[in-house]
Amino acid sequence: MCGIIGILGQTPVAPLLVDALKRLEYRGYDSAGIATLEDGHVERLRAEGKLRNLEAKLATVGRMGRSGIGHTRWATHGAPTERNAHPHATDRLAVVHNGIIENFRELRRDLEAAGRVFVSDTDTEVVAHLVTARLDEGMSPRDAVQASLGALEGAFALAFLFEGEDDLLIGARRGSPLAIGWGSNEMFLGSDAIALGPFTDEVTYLDDGDWVVLTRAGATIYDAAGQEVGRVVTRTQGATYVVDKGNHRHFMVKEIHEQPEVVGHTLAHYLDLANGIAKVPSGIDFAAIDRLSITACGTAYYAGFVAKYWFERLARLPVDIDIASEFRYREQPLSRNGLSIVISQSGETADTLASLRYAKGEGQKIAAVVNVQESTIAREADIRLPTLAGAEIGVASTKAFTAQLSVLAATAVAAGKARGVLSAEDEGKLVRALSEVPRLMHQVLKLDEQIEALARELAKVKHCLYLGRGTSYPIALEGALKLKEISYIHAEGYAAGELKHGPIALIDEDMPVVVIAPYDRVFEKTVSNMQEVAARGGRIILITDRKGQEAAAIDTLATIILPEMPAIVTPLVYAIPVQLLAYHTAVFMGTDVDQPRNLAKSVTVE
Ligand code: F6R
Repeated sequence: MCGIIGILGQTPVAPLLVDALKRLEYRGYDSAGIATLEDGHVERLRAEGKLRNLEAKLATVGRMGRSGIGHTRWATHGAPTERNAHPHATDRLAVVHNGIIENFRELRRDLEAAGRVFVSDTDTEVVAHLVTARLDEGMSPRDAVQASLGALEGAFALAFLFEGEDDLLIGARRGSPLAIGWGSNEMFLGSDAIALGPFTDEVTYLDDGDWVVLTRAGATIYDAAGQEVGRVVTRTQGATYVVDKGNHRHFMVKEIHEQPEVVGHTLAHYLDLANGIAKVPSGIDFAAIDRLSITACGTAYYAGFVAKYWFERLARLPVDIDIASEFRYREQPLSRNGLSIVISQSGETADTLASLRYAKGEGQKIAAVVNVQESTIAREADIRLPTLAGAEIGVASTKAFTAQLSVLAATAVAAGKARGVLSAEDEGKLVRALSEVPRLMHQVLKLDEQIEALARELAKVKHCLYLGRGTSYPIALEGALKLKEISYIHAEGYAAGELKHGPIALIDEDMPVVVIAPYDRVFEKTVSNMQEVAARGGRIILITDRKGQEAAAIDTLATIILPEMPAIVTPLVYAIPVQLLAYHTAVFMGTDVDQPRNLAKSVTVE
């Protein structure tokens, strides 16, 4: 959840650390800090809040050290203050940490009893004191770290900088990701390839339990048992990631507008457009599978939820869909002939990764719909189904969501054909329908101004409901999630038919209801639910098409009219107006759209 970086460089590293932290800020932005070795001494610089606060501080002090570590924080233990900001330090070392040390209370109690004085409320500070205690016993930095790792429970990626050691960094990972970057007479540690991108494209991903001793000359990697091990060096795309807003005001809106391209690119990977065929991903025999189990978190979970409708309808394949944080502890019996699909943009979400490992332990084959190809989930899955969305920087997921939907739709069609549910003609029609999505998305993006004007109204409300039926139900859930996470307006998504079982009590003129209702086979049912809202004075924002508008014949606060399209593609295209509505509302509210409060892009803790 936090981002970490370490550099053994040839020039002053402070600006390089800050530059890398900019690329890691998507992982957390409650505070930021660096530690550099200045004439052999560890000097820290930390600031509460966004990275720009740290940058401002750095501008007022000179930092010339050629080795250092840095951190951008998503607070777990301890308030997001400067006192709790990383790096944490003693007189012997500084350390940065991503993850949670679960037994920190016991460790802290013992260390305090032994006379160690703590100055923060974090779990991380125990790591600094544990290693320091061993250094004080006379151990070398390497031995002190190794001896301390065994005492830690929980998940962590750690990077240590030692007093008096200008040519040494030590890193370790268990649960949280950590990569080594190989330079020429320079070495790097980072949470991901994006952080290391400007420095090198030669990266080694540490395996779980690995720890590493870095000097400028190279790296020595050890496994959990302390055996020296070799790990492959891969060439990453990190350096080519463009972390730039272009002409857009925010990453989120840039990423919303990238969707026609991203979806087109992703679909082209999974469909043979010329022959109207959905390609079966290699390694999957859909005819032999009797059950799918889909697991993910947040927006990725909603993509999976849409896919449940697709797989069940198009391939007559039963689907269990679970929120990963629930699945991992539910001990669900999994079908012997089942396939598990995990969905994740970052590929590092702790609960999704744990679900993958649970399902693997149960003997399931795992397919991962994943955006970051170097991520842990991508590497641990048996079958990788890449979403070709490029780097998604806005914390609210947009283009990764529609890219996930693209992969899942194409795969559901392939499954339908493989299982004999769809004929070649059905398949061809569905493939052609999917190939139209980029064009439809372009058309919908032209409604931006209308949606912006509507958002001015939405920005005045405190609560909002989203309703949908069928595949529009997960889109209603996604719309509500987008609105609440970036505008902080309370929003809930409901299955339209569920309204009368409780939520209808909330309806009054202060509660707008966004209804996502393409003119499909369940449209009439949704209209009845809209009537129920209208009869109680509720103000409706209807997102539909021309036929739906005519058939609804209902007074609305606004009707957003999308082009008509086949049912299979509506979730992909209707995602755009709900994203734009949330985006513009947040802009009117003046929130930090790309980095909403309390959130982080990559959730590597439970
Ligand atoms: C919401 C959002 C989150 C993520 C969730 C899973 O806009 O971005 O709900 O979808 O944290 O993240 P990944 O896909 O990285 O596993």
